[in-house]
Amino acid sequence: MNNRIERAHWASRFGFVLAAAGSAIGLGNIWKFPYITGKNGGGAFVLVYLLCIVLVGLPIMMAEFLIGRHGQRDAVGSFESLEGKGSPWRLVGWGGVAASFILLSFYAVVAGWSFDYIFKSASGSLGGKTPEQINDLFGALVADPGRVIFWQFLFMAATVGIVLGGVRGGIERWSKILMPVLFLLLLLLFIRGMSSPGAQAGLEFMFRPDFSRITPEALLDALGHAFFTLSLGAATMITYGSYLPPDSDLFTLSVRITLLDTLVALLAGLAIFPVVFAAGLEPGSGPGLVFQTIPIVLAGLPFGSFLALIFFILLAFAALSSSISMLEVSVAYLIDEKGWRRNRATVLVGSLAFVLGIPSALSFNRWAELKPLFDRTFFDLFDLLVSSYMLPLGGMFVALYAGWFWKGEEEKNELAASAPRPWLFPVWHFLLRYITPAAVLIILLNQMGIWG
Ligand code: TRP
Repeated sequence: MNNRIERAHWASRFGFVLAAAGSAIGLGNIWKFPYITGKNGGGAFVLVYLLCIVLVGLPIMMAEFLIGRHGQRDAVGSFESLEGKGSPWRLVGWGGVAASFILLSFYAVVAGWSFDYIFKSASGSLGGKTPEQINDLFGALVADPGRVIFWQFLFMAATVGIVLGGVRGGIERWSKILMPVLFLLLLLLFIRGMSSPGAQAGLEFMFRPDFSRITPEALLDALGHAFFTLSLGAATMITYGSYLPPDSDLFTLSVRITLLDTLVALLAGLAIFPVVFAAGLEPGSGPGLVFQTIPIVLAGLPFGSFLALIFFILLAFAALSSSISMLEVSVAYLIDEKGWRRNRATVLVGSLAFVLGIPSALSFNRWAELKPLFDRTFFDLFDLLVSSYMLPLGGMFVALYAGWFWKGEEEKNELAASAPRPWLFPVWHFLLRYITPAAVLIILLNQMGIWG
């Protein structure tokens, strides 16, 4: 049943770090982090977020890589190869496949907006506009269902195109090109932000904690975002880990990926908030934040419209290196478990995710008033379901598995495979056993109004 062709592996460790960092770094860092930081009042939220990254995110990332590398199959198959066929743990793999699929559906909608902005910058329609006019352009875009769905489709097609090329020739090769350029450009925007008149206000907003802003919802946002930004809880890192050769030092690799991701989020915030304050915009203005502020930041610069073009190309690429990782989860499942060919799996899953994404695309226009549940649009519902529930729960089960159930010896050997660090295993194990599950549970129960 399974195809036993030699399984693909990353060509180099560097390629793997870039691919996994490419998955982690995406709209979450550049689009979502600034706007939820804005919504939750800045500094205190950033602090809680960083804590969640170190105490919850990093240990789970290591666990996901470990499970995948040990299992050497897709997420469902990796749990089965560790625990035996039909083991209930395969449901965690399944949950991950479902989460990354739903995520892909609405991620492509937002990523499509960045395509539209590439087009806007290239055609010069961002030039010579006042901040108000630039703000209005965003509203006009999302209000146009045909336009949004057109770009969503193109974005999905690009994702499918890369994943068709496979692990090395598609994912790894593209990540090596896209990530370094993205980083340089962000650095430039950061310098620009820091030299803007709003720099002081921006820095204070991001780093001066006001603990009265820490509500249960802010905690849930911070934890949910730690999972989201590191691509955890949706089997993505299990799948990427399964393409690792057995001798890699997972701790060092995970730390690097986490640092890169955090750095990019902070740089994005520091590029954006100074401008928000200097231009008198509202930091809590929501999903339009980057699309409205970046063109304003760049408008005053020499070659501003050219830089805007580059920025949106890179935003689209950052989104692509993430969306390919979401698609790869389901594709790996169909290849490894069902024996499908890559082409067939990729095209089918990509098409289904496109169709499922249409209600999300309509949530900003035709169906803006259609709120099927909890007074939320489809887009907000999918985002709530995945980011606030499926990812934290998925991560919690990974932690419970690695912390309590996975046979200790085997696991220790895995973790120590290339670089023995006596302190590492106990600390990691403790976090996975107690801290991670407790954090997720308390916050979820609280959110549902059951506890606290
Ligand atoms: N981490 C990516 C971002 O910040 C999104 C992403 C890719 C993701 N794969 C994932 C999120 C898997 C959760 C799970 O944009």
